[in-house]
Amino acid sequence: MSLEKIIYKKNNDLSKKIDKQKVPEHVAIIMDGNGRWATKKGLPRSFGHNKGVSVLKEIIKVSKKLGCKVLTVYAFSTENWTRPTKEVDFLINLFTEVLKNEIEEIHQELIKIKFIGDLTPFPENLKKIIFSSESLTKNNKNFLLNICVNYGGRQEIVKVAQKLALKSISGEIKPSEVNEELFNSELLTQGINDPELLIRTSGEKRISNFLLWQLAYSEIYISEVLWPDFNENEFLKAIIDYQSRNRRFGGIESLPNQSFKDSYFSP
Ligand code: FPP
Repeated sequence: MSLEKIIYKKNNDLSKKIDKQKVPEHVAIIMDGNGRWATKKGLPRSFGHNKGVSVLKEIIKVSKKLGCKVLTVYAFSTENWTRPTKEVDFLINLFTEVLKNEIEEIHQELIKIKFIGDLTPFPENLKKIIFSSESLTKNNKNFLLNICVNYGGRQEIVKVAQKLALKSISGEIKPSEVNEELFNSELLTQGINDPELLIRTSGEKRISNFLLWQLAYSEIYISEVLWPDFNENEFLKAIIDYQSRNRRFGGIESLPNQSFKDSYFSP
């Protein structure tokens, strides 16, 4: 049997183990290990980021095929600005080029794309393509792809606190009315259910300032595989592992999956 056939058979076997009724609706991913992958191969780190893009494309296809509805990926954190200028510039250029080249296909696949984070420091050409991509895909209802750029979980929470404090000072709300629901409604992810599953690649066991509020009850799956080597098979392993968990949310009974929200796809 050829190597391709063996890999295909293995994936096929794994997909048979998936319970279609218990597929997570929202999966968040920390795509880690691009640099290490390249360095191990004696290549510049940029090669790892390039390969990372093709892996992301594969994972979007697989998660969509499985029946997931939302994928939220961490593409650039507020801390990533501390990398050498050359790498930051490379990543900004990569986001711009990928969007230019892929947006038509994304749109044809009826994927809605949304950028989460503070876009202010990015160059105008990137901001322009981000806004036009969001606008082009805003009515798509098949799948939601959230790309977190210049995103930090603490910064997001502080911003919500500031907004609520201002509303309170202006008399729009009373301090006693501040609750989880109101807080949720001011988050960058407002209207979207929290991820049931967080996947982090490259064996690191940290949340790294990603979706701090939203991940409160998410199941965490750490894959030892570096992001450029992650693939359908590894994703299926994460889903199978997730399906073996008993989600009790602090109680003693296992609770069913949350229900799908139409509001994800409201423009
Ligand atoms: C983490 O690996 C990866 C990043 C900081 C960038 C991730 C970006 C992509 C995969 C491209 C996505 C493109 C679009 C358009 C969304 P690392 O550099 O931290 O690796 P290391 O930990 O081995 O150094």
